[in-house]
Amino acid sequence: MLIRPCILEDYNHIITNFLEFWDNDTPLSRHHVLFIREFGNTAYVAEINNRIAGYLLGFFAQSGPYAYSHMLAVHQNFRRQGVARELYHNFIKDALAHGCTELRATAAPYNKSTIAFHTAFGMTMHGEPDHENIPIIPNYGGPGIDRVLFTMPLTSITQ
Ligand SMILES: CC(C)(COP(=O)(O)OP(=O)(O)OC[C@H]1O[C@@H](n2cnc3c(N)ncnc32)[C@H](O)[C@@H]1OP(=O)(O)O)[C@@H](O)C(=O)NCCC(=O)NCCS
Repeated sequence: MLIRPCILEDYNHIITNFLEFWDNDTPLSRHHVLFIREFGNTAYVAEINNRIAGYLLGFFAQSGPYAYSHMLAVHQNFRRQGVARELYHNFIKDALAHGCTELRATAAPYNKSTIAFHTAFGMTMHGEPDHENIPIIPNYGGPGIDRVLFTMPLTSITQ
């Protein structure tokens, strides 16, 4: 597996083959091209046999020393092979070099695979338990949009 920067050509491939990476196209509007054009040093793809197996679009925050994972997705054919884990390890390596002390991500409470992944990765969930006992922060994603917030101190990561 090769982790490398996500360039515009990769981005175009992801957008035009979106449902190979996601179950529906709801998250499509959150894949703004600025994550490549303006935050390209924190956009990555994982390549396996010359195919894009997954990607991470992130940034280093302006409001504190944290690295935020905005979008993380793995191609349906390459799941449960450690692709997301490798993408995170690479992001964390760059985040530590940048001086970040925390990794952050959010998820919709109904997105069970991402909650399972982030929990397995060792991230802490914040918020009050909902009816399914999933900790959520009401309106974290905007009015009426509850989110699970994950954090992890980067000093605890063993590379
Ligand atoms: C969530 C997602 C990125 C995980 O990618 P992945 O490459 O399959 O994850 P990994 O192989 O690195 O998983 C590492 C560990 O996380 C846990 N995990 C990952 N996916 C899981 C799932 N669907 N159910 C339960 N545990 C899961 C497991 O403990 C796994 O280790 P194991 O396979 O040895 O048991 C992938 O399922 C995905 O792309 N989902 C759709 C897009 C999405 O919802 N993205 C997140 C929102 S930004």
